[in-house]
Amino acid sequence: ESHFFIWIAAAYLLGSVPTGLLLGKLYGIDVRRQGSGNIGATNLYRTVGRKVGVMTLVGDCLKGIAPVLLARQFGLSGEQIAWIGLAAFCGHVFSIFLKFKGGKGVATALGVFLALSPLAVLVALILFVLLMLKWRYVSLGSVCAAAVMPLAVALLSGGRTLTLVTFLIGLIVIVRHLENIRRLLAGTENKFKA
Ligand code: G3P
Repeated sequence: ESHFFIWIAAAYLLGSVPTGLLLGKLYGIDVRRQGSGNIGATNLYRTVGRKVGVMTLVGDCLKGIAPVLLARQFGLSGEQIAWIGLAAFCGHVFSIFLKFKGGKGVATALGVFLALSPLAVLVALILFVLLMLKWRYVSLGSVCAAAVMPLAVALLSGGRTLTLVTFLIGLIVIVRHLENIRRLLAGTENKFKA
């Protein structure tokens, strides 16, 4: 089905749009050279401010939600929709506009899973919030949430393809946080300041 690959390409392209980098540029900042150097909401919050951080979170999240909801509206199969979500996520992390560099994928994954498995998101979000309140590291919350998502999705939504896609997304999110994990272990990770 050739249409499916158009969906995959379109989701990937949409995911590739670097919300945080673009918003930072509006404020005269190349966020890749500031703070953690990441193009995600946490680093925009850190380097530009709360409002732009939240806008980045919402924008990157929508890149994950929109293709999934649209594909569902058009009647694609559950398996196809899961792959489309993965494509949007991969766009953010391996952006075609950034020579296949990109972000860590947390906000876009959040969007994908809000649309695919909201109950699993609730579980991961509770864990994220508890860890944030206790330790104040966004990265720690992200890594732990990414680690529990495959299990949460398997138990709460099921489906082999969706579970596989969730595992892949979780794995990529964790690999993208290796620098953060190193800093966490060294005790030099940035604490979140509200
Ligand atoms: O989503 C990214 C977050 O987990 C860490 O961001 O900028 O502290 O590396 P940052």
